[in-house]
Amino acid sequence: MKNLLETIDLRKTYKIGKIEVEALQGVNLRIREGELVAVMGPSGCGKSTLMHLLGAMARPTAGKVLIDGDDIAGMNDGQLTEVRRNKIGFVFQKFNLLPTLTAGDNIAVARHIHGRGGPAHDQHLEEILQMLMIQDKMGRRPSELSGGEQQRVAIARSVANRPAILLADEPTGSLDTKNSEIVLNMFRELNRRFRQTIILVTHNPELVIYTDRLIEMRDGVIVSDNDPFPEDTESELAQPARSV
Ligand SMILES: Nc1ncnc2c1ncn2[C@@H]1O[C@H](COP(=O)(O)OP(=O)(O)OP(=O)(O)O)[C@@H](O)[C@H]1O
Ligand SMILES: [Mg+2]
Repeated sequence: MKNLLETIDLRKTYKIGKIEVEALQGVNLRIREGELVAVMGPSGCGKSTLMHLLGAMARPTAGKVLIDGDDIAGMNDGQLTEVRRNKIGFVFQKFNLLPTLTAGDNIAVARHIHGRGGPAHDQHLEEILQMLMIQDKMGRRPSELSGGEQQRVAIARSVANRPAILLADEPTGSLDTKNSEIVLNMFRELNRRFRQTIILVTHNPELVIYTDRLIEMRDGVIVSDNDPFPEDTESELAQPARSV
């Protein structure tokens, strides 16, 4: 199976004036196509930092991040942007929908930015909207939708371009239990139906039942990982480099 994400002794240090915060202190992981992975751990242990690095939103202080085989360390800003556009979808705790646009236009704008000109609607998007049960909400503005519906619009927006990797940082953090379950079920369905690779950060241990693999972090390192295939994949480093 193909490694979509790999980190090798990944380190990230933030500097605030003279103070250094070692947010990641040597993280090693491999995530393959089609995996649905939960990341858990106490506040401040480095989960969001890891997600930023996996999503090419930041560069490591040391170590490597390989996204679909490409090391992001040597990339310039333009190349990082390309990786984000072409390979990554993000879902955040805050839905970040544009308030003056309808749900449908929020999705259309994202597709436009991602360079999928084409028709505003296609079969794939139609299937996703149906799966998320928001196909009849496309004419509404975010303020006219519930929190759960807004998050489902945000999910549709981030997967409409078929990103290889969907990263979700506490996607249910602003939702009540019922809506959290609906949203988690949607992630699972996306994973099962489209083999969408998903990594999601959650604080809620009850939500882990929706995922196949659990990575637990403490103080900037992984302390447990029930990786189902720990030895089956060769490091992408062993393969010739590909361009983005
Ligand atoms: N931009 C930044 N500048 C300085 N320090 C930062 C920055 N972002 C995060 N940190 C620090 O890095 C550490 C890891 O933060 P991170 O946001 O990755 O944690 P987290 O596991 O996502 O926490 P939470 O569960 O509260 O979201 C923390 O000590 C945090 O204070
Ligand atoms: Mg966080």
